[in-house]
Amino acid sequence: MRKILVTSALPYANGSIHIGHLVEYIQTDIWVRYLKMQGHECTYVCADDTHGTPIMLRAQKEGVTPEALIAKSSEEHQTDFADFGVNFDFFHSTHSSENQELSELVYNRLNDGGHIEKKTITQAYDPEKEMFLPDRFIKGECPKCHAKDQYGDGCEVCSATYSTTDLINPYSAVSGSKPIEKESEHYFFKLQDFEAMLKNWTQGGHLQEEMSNKLNEWFEQGLKNWDISRDAPYFGFNIPGTTDKFFYVWLDAPIGYMASFKAYCKQSELSFDDYWNADSEHELYHFIGKDIIYFHSLFWPAMLHGANLRTPTAIFAHGFLTVDGAKMSKSRGTFIKARTYLDHLNPQYLRYYFAAKLTAKIDDIDLNMEDFAQRVNTDLVNKVVNIASRCSGFIKKRFDGKLAASLPDTSLVEEFQAAQSVIANDFESRNFSKACRHIIALADKANQYIDAEKPWVIAKQEGSDEHLHAVCSTAINLFRLLMIYLKPILPQMADNVATFLNEPTQQWSDSQTMLLDHAIEPYKPLMTRVDTKQIDAMMDASKEDLVAENSAPETELSKDPLSPEISFDDFAKIDLRVAKIVDAQHVEGANKLLQLTLDIGGDSKNVFAGIKSAYAPEDLIGKMTVMVANLAPRKMRFGLSEGMVLAAGPGKKDLWILSPDDGAQPGMRIK
Ligand code: MSP
Ligand code: ZN
Repeated sequence: MRKILVTSALPYANGSIHIGHLVEYIQTDIWVRYLKMQGHECTYVCADDTHGTPIMLRAQKEGVTPEALIAKSSEEHQTDFADFGVNFDFFHSTHSSENQELSELVYNRLNDGGHIEKKTITQAYDPEKEMFLPDRFIKGECPKCHAKDQYGDGCEVCSATYSTTDLINPYSAVSGSKPIEKESEHYFFKLQDFEAMLKNWTQGGHLQEEMSNKLNEWFEQGLKNWDISRDAPYFGFNIPGTTDKFFYVWLDAPIGYMASFKAYCKQSELSFDDYWNADSEHELYHFIGKDIIYFHSLFWPAMLHGANLRTPTAIFAHGFLTVDGAKMSKSRGTFIKARTYLDHLNPQYLRYYFAAKLTAKIDDIDLNMEDFAQRVNTDLVNKVVNIASRCSGFIKKRFDGKLAASLPDTSLVEEFQAAQSVIANDFESRNFSKACRHIIALADKANQYIDAEKPWVIAKQEGSDEHLHAVCSTAINLFRLLMIYLKPILPQMADNVATFLNEPTQQWSDSQTMLLDHAIEPYKPLMTRVDTKQIDAMMDASKEDLVAENSAPETELSKDPLSPEISFDDFAKIDLRVAKIVDAQHVEGANKLLQLTLDIGGDSKNVFAGIKSAYAPEDLIGKMTVMVANLAPRKMRFGLSEGMVLAAGPGKKDLWILSPDDGAQPGMRIK
């Protein structure tokens, strides 16, 4: 029995899980489920990645503590994962006592080994907010095209890249104030000490081949020592011996893998040390996306080695998800949150589709919506499920629900059984797309067998009971084998099949047995077809998420300390008008939107506003509000939206800006 510890990258606590993330969690989950079916001791852990500036600022913005924010997202993340059948043995948090202890242990060992150095550096500082500013929190005018409000690392308008110090009129995205330069002492991990070890390790078969080019490039550029400290205020762990220095989030994040496993050991029989000591012979695998290879193939093994702990057996990187050939995009409705998907479609469709696309390579994978519907419908519904639905009725009606005691010809069943080793190899080597192709080719054979035998014809012939029983029992056995092979990919369907077949759990080795002289349950539909209307509805809902995010009333009358200051010129551009709501309607098919017809003094505007949860349409008609009248129109599935309305209040209990008897007239300018 192999002893295997597997991780997926720890999702950031300050965002929702989306279908891009799911590539990784589904990929890992399939692999782990396969290994468990093989009877290995395999443990799958993960955690939320909770530390850092963005989370600290987001909590401030929402008026909650970081602890409350991360508790909420942990719950959301875990529900999303569970609903997609991603079955962690343990899901922890990097903001945990185990992680603090282990981070300190790793740091202290590195420090004792002489691998930490201190250096004073100069950094941008927000004098008003009294904090150092990471690059992504500095904005300003693009030095090239002079577009305003561009981020420090590059211009979204002309795509120029430059460094933060090149920005014209830089300002802090946190307070709007002008950043100053300030010195501070930082702690560095001396990655250079590990150059020889890393050159060796990265050539040692722990990484995919495609990674080596990238690594050579990095080695050629020379390894740079790594800044692992951040100054207060910061949400994270204090560096031992300091009160105002914190571990940079990327230091304690991978240690979170260990911490999650450690917490799990407390409630299971597993030994932490057996898995993590330098001489451990157990296997350790990290699944990650291609964007975080540097952290996992250089920093992480060096840290582990320097702290006298074991290094990973292998790192498996995957590519990024594109939707319909392009990067996921909020405005196209292809930035699909896990929850939005679940509101409309069966999670098993996506598990199968990703499996059908995943290889052991780092190539990006594309979710093409037409291909998705077709693939699932053809492979799973028409080919796999069809076998059971065509044959189980006869077993029920004619043979009292019992499979034949023996089969006159077992050659086809044996062929399916023999396929287990090839398919097992495909799973083991993460060539899930190949596994799917093998399994579906077998399903084709099963269907050809049924088409040739025609049980519906045999059923009408006198004295052919035995033959009918044999054919249907053979088909059900073929179906059973296919579902054993598909179980890592489609666990929920496999469970339903196990109930149907009256066979509680299925291990990989069960593929070498047959179900004979065995009572099965009545057949219930196992999977329905993908309906393209559901896909459209999901994409519309994703666009709605965007509108709702942009226009949702704040939960309290927050002063929002984080909105950057805007110049008077910026303000002058906004044409705010008093608007009378002459009509308000529900929008068919939209969960969050209301359609408003606004009168702004003779001119009528159509606006879709994400305020349905707070206001009933009938309560809005006749009321006054303020609208941004010169917002560029946005095309939505429901029609053109020609502005934004202002609404405020705690939700439910409304707060009107102007009531009609205050003398406000439609079209009045508000400034
Ligand atoms: N918190 C870090 C990881 C720390 S691991 C010690 C992080 N978090 S993340 O939420 O941004 O991403 C989590 C994982 O999802 C990463 O492996 C990332 O590559 C992967 N993906 C995020 N977006 C993705 C796609 N669009 N497509 C495929 N994988 C994606 O990085
Ligand atoms: Zn520019």
